[in-house]
Amino acid sequence: MARLPVLEDLGDVAGKRILVRTDFNVPMEGPDEGRTITDDFRIRAALPTIEWLTSRGAKVVCASHLGRPKGKPVQKYSMDPVRARLAELAPGVELLENLRFNPGEESNSEEFVAQLVAGFDAYVDDAFGAAHRAHASVVGPPKTLPSAAGRLLQKEAEILGGLREHPKRPFVAVLGGAKVSDKLGVIEALLQTVDALVIGGGMCFTFLAAKGMPVGDSICELDQVAFCRRLLDGPKPIHLPEDIVGVDANGSYATFGVRLPDGSKGLDIGPGTAAAFCDVIMEARTVFWNGPMGMFEDPRFANGTKTVAQAVADTKAFTVVGGGDSAAALAQFGLDDSVDHVSTGGGASLEFLEFGDLPGLAALRGAPNVK
Ligand code: 3PG
Repeated sequence: MARLPVLEDLGDVAGKRILVRTDFNVPMEGPDEGRTITDDFRIRAALPTIEWLTSRGAKVVCASHLGRPKGKPVQKYSMDPVRARLAELAPGVELLENLRFNPGEESNSEEFVAQLVAGFDAYVDDAFGAAHRAHASVVGPPKTLPSAAGRLLQKEAEILGGLREHPKRPFVAVLGGAKVSDKLGVIEALLQTVDALVIGGGMCFTFLAAKGMPVGDSICELDQVAFCRRLLDGPKPIHLPEDIVGVDANGSYATFGVRLPDGSKGLDIGPGTAAAFCDVIMEARTVFWNGPMGMFEDPRFANGTKTVAQAVADTKAFTVVGGGDSAAALAQFGLDDSVDHVSTGGGASLEFLEFGDLPGLAALRGAPNVK
């Protein structure tokens, strides 16, 4: 496999116009006009690349998607609030309008690629969170422009690649989130590499159902029960909850074992499970965590996620947290500075762990400046 080109591979960038694909798909709130950014983590994460280029005399123009506007301009997804924040953090750097306002972005149209690259001397991809999308701005520019991975993309690929290739053992993956079906591929891929898998969140109920436990009205994907049973019969240890917290048939807060009565609903792992999961995390030398352990937005059901987050923060193991909800949980508990790496990609980090490569990385390796 050709090497991933990095910023140094662009040579002298002074005076050059460089198109930088960033992932500024940031969380926002407020009315459609005048929305405010609630977390600028992804904008700050692109600054090392932007500053590397501008400090060497390059003219930087950033381009990103925001939300899923489906190929047409939608006020809610205007880049204006992002542009204003970028102007504060990196004065003088331009930002194009939302790439997904053009249908050619997602359909990867040649016309849109030609429009994007016109007037640029080079392309830098620093949008790890979008590197799993074979969209025009991700895979198109490296076909013609000298290209490189920005510092963020480079770091994400190195760290997640390291988890796949040479993790320090024991390597434990902690997975949560609502659905098994969202993570089938990555669960199978992780089971090839990890020493143990820890399962919490809504997806644990499909695994508990596979063990023959009644799960009440909890989230349970009946069509995935056989898949979970096969994994449980496999050689790697899979740690499941031993107690559950949720609501009973009257909607009142309740604690359960692993047999949930009719009408009840599990919404978090119980305290015994949280403590047991902590033990597994503390014994590991590498930990990958993706997905909350319960409905942590509700303080009654935040304990499992908070306890696991604290263990991930406290352990001496090398810790990687895969974007999205788990990163938001870490930030909510003030622990985001206590882990080794918080990935900026949710879907991208999972697909990278599953396949070991992403369309955005493959495109860069095929760029004209890569020998
Ligand atoms: C993300 O938020 O995971 C990335 O920005 C990709 O967004 P998408 O799932 O809408 O492609």
